This record gives sequence, C-alpha cells and structure tokens, in this order.
Amino acid sequence: MWKQYKPMIRRNPSAPTRRCALVAVLPLLLLCAAPAFPQSVDPSDPGVAREIGDRFGPGASGPYVARNGMVSTASHQATMAALETLRAGGNAFDAAAVAQFVLNVTEPYASGIGGGAFLVLYDAETGKVRNIDGREEAPRGFHADSFRDADGKLVPFNERITGGHSVGVPGTLAAMAHLLENYGTIRLAEALEPAIRIAREGFIVTEPFARNIRSHVERLSLYPASARLFFRPDGTPLQAGDRFRNPDFADTLERIAWEGLSAFYEGEIAEDIVKTVREDTRRPGLLTLEDLANYRPVEREPVSVRYRGYDVYGMNLPSSGGITLGLMLNLLEASDFAEAPPFRADSIHRMADAQNLAFADRNRYLGDADFVDVPSQGLLDKHYAKERAELLETERALPTSAPFGVPPGAPVARADATSAPEPVSTTHFTVVDRDRNVASVTTTIEQHFGSGLVVPGRGFLLNNELTDFDAEALDEDGNPVPNAPDGERKTRRTALGDAAETEGGKRPRSSMTPTIVLRDGKPRFALGSPGGSQIIGITLNVLLNLVDHDMDVQAAINAPRAIARNGPLELEAPLFRDRELREELERRGFTVRDAQAIGSVQAIEIGEDGWLRGAADPRREGLAVGY
Ligand code: GLY
Repeated sequence: MWKQYKPMIRRNPSAPTRRCALVAVLPLLLLCAAPAFPQSVDPSDPGVAREIGDRFGPGASGPYVARNGMVSTASHQATMAALETLRAGGNAFDAAAVAQFVLNVTEPYASGIGGGAFLVLYDAETGKVRNIDGREEAPRGFHADSFRDADGKLVPFNERITGGHSVGVPGTLAAMAHLLENYGTIRLAEALEPAIRIAREGFIVTEPFARNIRSHVERLSLYPASARLFFRPDGTPLQAGDRFRNPDFADTLERIAWEGLSAFYEGEIAEDIVKTVREDTRRPGLLTLEDLANYRPVEREPVSVRYRGYDVYGMNLPSSGGITLGLMLNLLEASDFAEAPPFRADSIHRMADAQNLAFADRNRYLGDADFVDVPSQGLLDKHYAKERAELLETERALPTSAPFGVPPGAPVARADATSAPEPVSTTHFTVVDRDRNVASVTTTIEQHFGSGLVVPGRGFLLNNELTDFDAEALDEDGNPVPNAPDGERKTRRTALGDAAETEGGKRPRSSMTPTIVLRDGKPRFALGSPGGSQIIGITLNVLLNLVDHDMDVQAAINAPRAIARNGPLELEAPLFRDRELREELERRGFTVRDAQAIGSVQAIEIGEDGWLRGAADPRREGLAVGY
C-alpha cells in the first residue's frame, strides 16, 4: 500500500473551524476560543506565539479539526505519513509506529532506533490505559564509577554527553515492534516503509534542522560517520535548502523489515553498534552483544490521578513524569489555585511552588522501581497532598530549594539528591483514530544528536541516555541515591518473557510525560512535550490551560509557560516581559529567569461533540492534521 503513498489533506467542510483562510481569521478564532484574560499578557494573542516560537509555522494556526483521525507530530513528513496510515485503515498504534520511524529520518537528532521511548496508550476495545516502557538500559558492565576517569575523578557533565560511554541499550525499535504486535494491525515491515522511502529520497533541510547541526558541529566533527551524515562534502554543516538523504539508514530499515527485530538486536547491525560504542577512542563504552540480545520492552500499569473530575494517566517509572505530574496536580487541587485568575501572580505562584514541592520529592524518591523502593502510592496519596499543600498557602514563595516530604511508605535513609542535568531535546507525538484509540508517545536519544555517534554504514545516531543517571551512588552521609547507575534488581517484569538473569539493566530516570486524560472513562486530551526535566512542568502548564482555564487546545499550547524545578522560576518571554508581574513574583521571593521557547507540545482534544482538535507547537516545526 505504501508505493502509492501520496499525502493528501482533505478538510471536512462542516468542521466548525478550519485551517484554510487562517491568516485572515486566526486572531478572531483564537480570541473566540479562549477565555477573556483581564491581565496584560493575553496568551491567545497570535503575536505571543510568533514571539515565543522559532517561527509562526503551521503549528500555531490550529487547531485542525476533523472527525475520523488526527495526528500531531513535530515533523510535517511524520504527521503526513501517520495520517496516511490512518486513512488507509490503520489504527492509532500503527500510525504511531509509522510516525516514530519517519521522525527518525526527519528529526534524526531528536529520537530514533538508537534511543528509547515511552508510550501511553488508550485501547478503545478494553477501555484501558497501558504503558510501554522502551527506555534504554544500562549495559551489564555499567556501574556507579563508569563516569570516573583513571584518577577517579567524575568526568564533567558536558564531557559525559559525547561518546560511547554514555550509550544505553536502545529500546525504541523493540517498543515499536511490541506496540504493533500487541495493539496494531500492520506488520513492522509496513510501518517502516514510509521512513525507508523518505530516507532514500531525502528532503529539504529546514532552518531549525540546520541550526541544530550548527549547534553541535564540534561534537559531530569528532566522528567521521557523523560528519558524513550531517555535513556537506566540503566539511561544512548542511544548510537550509540543502537536500538531506540517508541511504545507509534506508538500507538498515529495509534489512529490519526483511529480517525483523533480530536484525537489530543480534547479527551484523548489533555488531556494528557494539563496535561503535566500544571502539570509540575518546570515551569507549561497555555495551555488549549480550546486552542488546537481552533487551526487552516492559509493559507497565500507568500512573493515574484524578484531577477535578478528570483522570490523568501518565507514564510510570522509570519515567518520573507521571508521578511528578500527579503530585503537582494533587497539590494544586488541594490548594486555592482554582480561585486565582490565570497568568497572574497568584496562579503562577501556586503553580510554581507546586512544581517545586513535587520536584523535591521526585529528586529524593524516584528512580527505576525495578531496582529501588519507591513510595509511589504514598506520593500520590490525596491526604499526603493535602498536608503538603499547606506549604503553598502563603504569600511568600517557598525557599529556593523546597523541602522534600515524607509520604506514607517512604524509605528511612535516602539521599536528598540533586538531579542529573537534563538538557532540552527529545520529541513528542500524539495520534487518535476513528475508534478513539489514542497513542501519546515521547521518544528520545537524550540530547540533540545523542552521544554524537552515528553507527558507520547504518545511518542512525546512538543515544547518550546514561547521562540521565545521577553520577554519584551515595550522598555525603552514605545514603543511597535512587537514580544512581546501579542497584540491586528487585523485579524483572518484561513484556516478552523473562530475560536471562544478568547484572545491569537499570533504566535511567526520565522526565518524559506522555499523558492521556479521560473523563467518564473516555479519552478527552492527549499531550506531551520534549524539554528535559522541564517536560513535566510544560505538560502541567498546558493541562491546566485545558482543564482549569477551558482554553482551546491551540491557545493552551501557544500560551507562555512558567516552569520551576525546585530552583529559579523560568518564565517565557511574554510573561517575563510583564514588569508588574515579574516584580510581584520577585517581591514574593521568587528568583525569576527569562526563558526562551520552552518545549514543543503536540496535543489532541477528543471533543465530547465528536470532533477531534489537533494542535502542534509553534515553538518547533510541528504539524497537526486530521481527516
Ligand atoms: N532524556 C530526557 C528524559 O528522559 O527525560
């Protein structure tokens, strides 16, 4: 079916709003869709989107409205390929796999088969929400001292990020195969077809793509295979307007299409991955063929909290996203947040300090729960939230480093750890189909361009996810750090049966927060974002805009964001520029920072009126389209 693949956009003429004629009607549409804001920052103003985004792209001009299916990704080609899958009769899970493989071609620096992914799924047939954990894991030989040099000194973070020593066992391909096998209707080979075609034909490099390469020239220059892929033949970085082709990657995917998963996790591609990691002369890693052969995705129960009549489902550990978002929502529900007008000092104050308190607990308690005891239930207990929310009921901001709480079931000895720096990268996409199956997927190779290593002759980048571990195993008092690189395995729950007993295998704590929101058992919203540890706060901002402020899905995404991670309060420019607001927040004790565009949310609203409304974030190159 893919040979005839020709993207078509067909708009439903009876849809209440449409992308056509948007330039003329957009301001009106957005103003109609969004509630009135009495303050000086109007988040529904398209000028706001233009200012905080890299560009005023199609993403900002939604929502796209359709009846049958909707896709929102950060790449036009990925959106169109996934949409075509839906139109050809595939379900949301098929389309999600297609989107992931195309994203590997069109946003190769953000996610792919060399990395890991978290999937939150709503299965319309069972009415259940599930998690698929395709997170990278530590190789068997990886341990707390693996980021130390020969003198025992910790390699600084900005050196840890490049090279073989930071490469975790990749999980994305196994997760997508699991998705298709258990929830999809097409074969892996079919799901790979659009990506193979686009990798072979190539596409025109956009300015954001070129800018990303320019920002990583130094790292990419270290490795000939990486330079060959992202530089022109004369050795200068690819520029906007150049054609990007990746025939090596097309061959790799074709081989996987023919031979299945084993082509990647065993055999020649696996050998090349291991060679690339172990023979990196700068910073060799520990990955082995056995590590690859033992990798299994894990299907998990989702995290869920009830927030003001909505059931918010998120990703469970090893992503801290679901629990930390749940903590924030519980705290806000237990506070006076709902009474405060949006985008003003009172509401930003409550929202920021809820984020601060939740991050204090995240840093102290959360790590891979297959290896460490995590008081997950206690953290999400409504009584615990009520107690903690008392700290919010004040006119003063919490101290810059807010105290952690002691939830029911908390371990006695635990380091009050800072968290590993998590730079901005990653990508999120969301798909809904005719039957209202929903896929909300956040996927990454960690930093932009991951470890910087392209597997020679294979055309894909390897992750640097091991940098998401805290580098120290113990704090100064000898208390264990939950997100340390090693720990004793407590459980081994795998989707595909038990893997052989090995050491290693711990998965670094993530902040990825793919989310699906249900009301009365039916999906209402699906969303998520890239952005390192800002992801959780970004998702909170947009969710509150949707649920509490009743904003249109595009306006909810466009609105400027306020992020706190138990440190300074980061305000996107339109909020930061509001001097009165900023000074009031400073007067309350916040350290306010000016933030450029934060995150890139791709969201879909599943309307109770039967319409789907899709929106992509103007902060990146996204596109939401339905049919
Ligand atoms: N590497 C980004 C995350 O997992 O949150």
